[in-house]
Amino acid sequence: MSVIEKLSSAEAMALEARYGAQNYHPLPVVLSRGEGAYVWDVEGKKYYDFLSAYSAVNQGHCHPKIIGALKTQAENLTLTSRAFYNDQLGPYEKYITEYFGFDKVLPMNTGAEAVETAMKLARKWGYEKKGIPANKAKIVVCQNNFHGRTISIISASNDPIATENFGPFTPGIIAIRYNDLNALEEVMGPDVAAFMVEPIQGEAGVYVPDANYLKEAKKICKANDVLFIADEVQTGVARTGRLLASCGNCNCPEKNCSGTPEVKPDILILGKALSGGVFPVSAVLANDEIMEVIRPGNHGSTFGGNPLACAVAVAALEVVREERLAERAERLGQIFRDKMKEIIQETNLVKLVRGKGLLNAIVINDTEDSSTAWEICVALKENGLLAKPTHGNIIRFAPPLVMTEEQLEECVEIIRKTLLNYEAA
Ligand SMILES: Cc1ncc(COP(=O)(O)O)c(C=O)c1O
Repeated sequence: MSVIEKLSSAEAMALEARYGAQNYHPLPVVLSRGEGAYVWDVEGKKYYDFLSAYSAVNQGHCHPKIIGALKTQAENLTLTSRAFYNDQLGPYEKYITEYFGFDKVLPMNTGAEAVETAMKLARKWGYEKKGIPANKAKIVVCQNNFHGRTISIISASNDPIATENFGPFTPGIIAIRYNDLNALEEVMGPDVAAFMVEPIQGEAGVYVPDANYLKEAKKICKANDVLFIADEVQTGVARTGRLLASCGNCNCPEKNCSGTPEVKPDILILGKALSGGVFPVSAVLANDEIMEVIRPGNHGSTFGGNPLACAVAVAALEVVREERLAERAERLGQIFRDKMKEIIQETNLVKLVRGKGLLNAIVINDTEDSSTAWEICVALKENGLLAKPTHGNIIRFAPPLVMTEEQLEECVEIIRKTLLNYEAA
């Protein structure tokens, strides 16, 4: 008999409280099933998922094509390590590099691992190609970034919760203001290997930079022989209304196009929705002149490039194209923000809405340390919609991209009623 028995929500939460490290503060809901834009709790109550596992489930929960690929591959071969070749990795590498327009991919598992990989790749390129003196390489990042949780990555963070009592930190990282081209210009120098940036700062509260920021930042990097690294772990794979947020406002008719981002990063980092949230799959993409600095033994992971991950990722990327998810995210995102602006006219509770595609946030009209955003999320949950506050008094809204317009309208109505009722209470 399985040790996992059917539990009530209260029992499941009690087990996590008793036996799990308390490194998260989840909303009090225990989910046991998902399909498309919906999830169900263990008592059978249905919710709209308006977080999508932090933008990992762009293709919707348990997408049949992706689950089909998972099942088929699981019955054949799951893991070989990279000690041997497997028959899925090569075809996946061809598929993903052509899809995003790069020469090579380095496969990893989680977003943080891919960020670490990109940092290592940039340093090695800095020494071997740019000629930075030994141990002097610098990586420039932006304040209020979120790139993950490893020691080197939190060394780039200015969030006290993420960093307190985790020192000493990795040296060689400089943080500048986000969306500040002068700051980037000033920090450039012969020892700078790379500038790593989120095209939209998701965790920080969905901060969208000025329209020309990424383009100009890339130019500054190019002029100074510095690699431009785009961390698209959260923004990539159609979330922001383009295949990549680096595609900016590119107006090509094919919104799911590949290979021609408006701002082509030297190193592109992907994770989360690369697998449709089915399996941890991440990737670092770059052209040959950068990727060739990595040689056998320099870097790796037992699970990176495993056949199950490869089969799942190909299916997940196919779904993005077949269902034109970038186009859908752009259209629904515009509707969502317009509707939120109408709601803002009706209530003093919300200051503004911002975002791109279906990565949006509302800013609550209260002090940063108040619990208003949390309480609103609990009320939204009661009304059948799951969302989570992010830094400060901000609620991020990021539903699966497969949501229909009708479903979105229903969600907008839930949000409207919840906010008005909260304000009236
Ligand atoms: C921009 C960005 N980079 C990296 C990560 C880390 O990804 P993971 O949680 O899979 O390690 C995240 C996670 O939210 C992210 O938003």
